[in-house]
Amino acid sequence: MIRPIFFVLAVAAYSAYALQCHQVTAGNLSIPDTSQRQECVVGSLTCLKIVDYSRGTYSKQCQSMNCTQGVVQNSAAGCTNSTAFGVTGATCCCYGDGCNSAPQTGIITAFGITAALVSLVKIIA
Ligand SMILES: *[C@@H]1O[C@H](CO)[C@@H](O)[C@H](O)[C@H]1NC(C)=O
Ligand SMILES: *[C@@H]1O[C@H](CO)[C@@H](O)[C@H](O)[C@H]1NC(C)=O
Ligand SMILES: *[C@@H]1O[C@H](CO)[C@@H](O)[C@H](O)[C@H]1NC(C)=O
Repeated sequence: MIRPIFFVLAVAAYSAYALQCHQVTAGNLSIPDTSQRQECVVGSLTCLKIVDYSRGTYSKQCQSMNCTQGVVQNSAAGCTNSTAFGVTGATCCCYGDGCNSAPQTGIITAFGITAALVSLVKIIA
C-alpha cells in the first residue's frame, strides 16, 4: 500500500518541478514568439530551438538529451550554426525552465518519476 502513495507524491512533485520549455511546432521568425512555456514530457533534460534561416522558420521543443557543443557534453546554453542541404540553420540548446533557471529540479524529478513508474509497473504486474 506504500507504493501507490509514493506514486501520487512523485506525480505531485513532477507537476511542481518538471522542466518547462517553450514548445512551438512551426514558428515564423518574422513574428515574435508569444508562446507560453509548457511542461516537458518525463525525462526531458534540455530545451531546444531549431532555426531555419533559409525559410525563416523555427521550432522549439523539449529534448531528452544533454546539450552538446561539438564533443563537449553539458555545455552551457548556446547555438550551433550549420549549413546542410542548402539550408542555413541554427540549433540552440539550453538548460532550465524557459532556459532561464537551473535545471537540477528537472533531472532529480526525472529520476523520481522513473522510480515511481517502476513501482507502478510492479503493482500492475
Ligand atoms: C512569416 O510572416 C511574414 C509576415 O507576416 C510573412 O510575410 C511570411 O510569408 C511568413 N513566413 C512563413 C514561412 O510563414
Ligand atoms: C546528462 O548529464 C548528466 C550530468 O552530467 C548525466 O548524469 C546524464 O547521464 C546525462 N544524460 C544524457 C542522456 O546524456
Ligand atoms: C548564426 O547565424 C546567424 C544568421 O546568419 C547569425 O546571426 C549568428 O550570429 C550566427 N551564430 C553563430 C554562433 O555563429
